[in-house]
Amino acid sequence: MNAATIQPYALLDDQECEQRIKHAKEVLGDRLVILGHHYQRDEVFQHADFSGDSLKLSRQAASSKAEYIVFCGVHFMAEVADILTRSDQVSILPDLAAGCSMADMADLQLVEKAWKELAEVLDPDEHVTPVTYINSAADLKAFCGEHGGIVCTSTNARHVLDWSFEQREKVLFFPDQHLGRNTGYTMGIPLEKMVVWDYDKPMGGLTPEQIRQAKIILWKGFCSVHQMFQPEQIDNFKRKYPETIVIAHPESPFEVCQKADFVGSTEYIMKTIADGKPGSRWLVATELNMVNRLHDLHKAEGTNVHFMSPNVCMCSTMFRIDPQHLAWVLENLVDGVIVNQVSVPEKTAEFARTALHRMLEVSP
Ligand code: 13P
Ligand code: SF4
Repeated sequence: MNAATIQPYALLDDQECEQRIKHAKEVLGDRLVILGHHYQRDEVFQHADFSGDSLKLSRQAASSKAEYIVFCGVHFMAEVADILTRSDQVSILPDLAAGCSMADMADLQLVEKAWKELAEVLDPDEHVTPVTYINSAADLKAFCGEHGGIVCTSTNARHVLDWSFEQREKVLFFPDQHLGRNTGYTMGIPLEKMVVWDYDKPMGGLTPEQIRQAKIILWKGFCSVHQMFQPEQIDNFKRKYPETIVIAHPESPFEVCQKADFVGSTEYIMKTIADGKPGSRWLVATELNMVNRLHDLHKAEGTNVHFMSPNVCMCSTMFRIDPQHLAWVLENLVDGVIVNQVSVPEKTAEFARTALHRMLEVSP
């Protein structure tokens, strides 16, 4: 059977897609599992069998027995699902253009160049643990696996850094400088011991002395969504509602996390607000779709959940997964056709798996 093309699906309205997705799920039964990240829009999120943050969904993928794992999230998540599952399981991303702009800020060539340049000052394989945030391509995870390093998520970054410093005295952390800095600071590492590696400059724009002094070398990457949050937004909001509780994702800038009452992953944010007092007021620094969902979930208890930025700020790549693409991949599966498979070459997957397994072992 030839694959049905996406074009006719683009003309379907959301309601029609909803019915067709439900029907395809019934037909595929337990051969299929749909994983949905918290940032997915409601029209897609409602079809997820399991939802969560990157760590929870990685574990869910790893323990799934389903033949088809359809990941409603972004590309690196579907790659992780492929790496952690059996070779006869298939990982699918409904729209292959759903990437992560932060993940794209580090690539293997640039990281290998950085590793070589660091070698002019010290032997990185002896002194530096490479740590990649899970928001990165599979070959960077493989780089970490091969060089005694590890992967982290926003949930386990602290545990991963503890492990990393037990191996070697310094860490090269990529691609998100904010997660690295926010986590390092909570571990008692002063800001001056966390230097930024500017990958556009020779030697990261650092002097040999700065590299020797550093505990964490932070890649100059960031999330274009979370970098929009500013401490002034908290001050302005609190002037109107002083009782507000502030909660931020650790991809947010340092100054925002410092002013927040709570900092944690998307799953942590969901849980913390759910456990909060009815009638409380929250200001949240994370993606818009998730914040809107949280408000809808808790408004009946009189709880108000507000988005921190006055400018619209959603993750445009997460948003690429729409009901039309989901219906398209599922109906193809019903016809026995796999479209949009995400497959990591085994040589890369092997080392990436090493780094991911190290992470899963040290995770809470
Ligand atoms: P979480 O693992 O906290 O869900 O974060 C993933 C992500 O991409 C946040 O921008
Ligand atoms: Fe990537 Fe930021 Fe989107 Fe998360 S919110 S997937 S880090 S671009």
